[in-house]
Amino acid sequence: MKIQQNYSLKNYNTFGIAATAKYFACFSSENELVELLRNDLCKTEPLFILGGGSNILLTQDFEGLVLANTIKGMEVLIEDNHSSTIEVGAGEVWHDFVLWSIDKNLSGIENLALIPGLVGASPMQNIGAYGLEVKDVITTVHFIEIGSGNSKILSNEDCNFGYRDSIFKHELKEKVVITKVIFKLSKTPLNKTTYGAIEEELKNLNLDPSPKNISTAVINIRSRKLPDPKILGNSGSFFKNPIIKTTQFENLKREFPEMVGYTISETKTKIAAGWLIDNAGLKGYRKADAGVHKNQALVLVNYGNATGLEIINLAKEIQEKIKDKYGISITPEVNIL
Ligand code: EPU
Repeated sequence: MKIQQNYSLKNYNTFGIAATAKYFACFSSENELVELLRNDLCKTEPLFILGGGSNILLTQDFEGLVLANTIKGMEVLIEDNHSSTIEVGAGEVWHDFVLWSIDKNLSGIENLALIPGLVGASPMQNIGAYGLEVKDVITTVHFIEIGSGNSKILSNEDCNFGYRDSIFKHELKEKVVITKVIFKLSKTPLNKTTYGAIEEELKNLNLDPSPKNISTAVINIRSRKLPDPKILGNSGSFFKNPIIKTTQFENLKREFPEMVGYTISETKTKIAAGWLIDNAGLKGYRKADAGVHKNQALVLVNYGNATGLEIINLAKEIQEKIKDKYGISITPEVNIL
């Protein structure tokens, strides 16, 4: 639990931005975390809790203490004929947990294969893909309060989950450290194949919709569209898909008949921001080392030496062009530091 100084965060953010932290330390258990929180630096310096660094954009050096979560462990707590309740350390790699669950013939997160990041970040932004969100399988979230060092538990309902949203992005933002997450997974396969290209991919591969095969299909689809952060720095979808009034969507459809939208309630439609950016001619757009990915316009990439500011300036330019062209505001999904 040594606290290091002037520590490079380049390998700790999937955008690969070369920023540093004034102080940096790792913790691998709740006790280590509580001990760190008693350190004077935690009282005097700004704190940042780092997970997998897959949903952050560093626009400057962090003038404070970064605490990196490495709490491990995946353990079945209870099981019956229908389901297993599993406790997972917040520092486990999300995709490793997906593979572990498939190996145990459990269903519920196979559609979330290959999402970068750690388990502890999954409830924060309620990760989702291919028709599933992590809120569908979380029972409780355990955390330590930064101010008091006390250990607390929130039920699924109290997490206020929404689209890429939860209480951890609002009331509890910067106030707590998630230490473990409890999931309930099903022993009966969910077979959620209707979203996106899963059905088509399974057909092409001649596979039935088992959890393992669905995860294979998702891994194939994601690998085709989304850049591997180890090769090309990125943090997945940079923007959220905006939710607008269905009446506005219908008006826009007259001008842009191809616009992609999903009905989410009687009056609201979620628009594919990737389509908006692509249709505005910005897919593959590049300014120095900051760019819009060539296969998926919702993903911004670092071609090597982009700074966080260059990425943010590109994001602003995109936001302005989208607002001018369609009258729609798009907002970042990633946390900007
Ligand atoms: N589209 C384009 N051009 C593009 C990108 C997308 O026309 O460059 C169109 C697609 O053809 C499709 C629609 O936009 O009709 C939606 O695209 P896609 O299915 O790829 O999904 P998305 O809305 O861009 C969301 C999530 C992803 C998740 C996928 C699959 C958000 C912000 N993003 O992306 O999550 O993997 O659905 O479920 O909700 C992430 O959050 O980091 C992420 C990757």
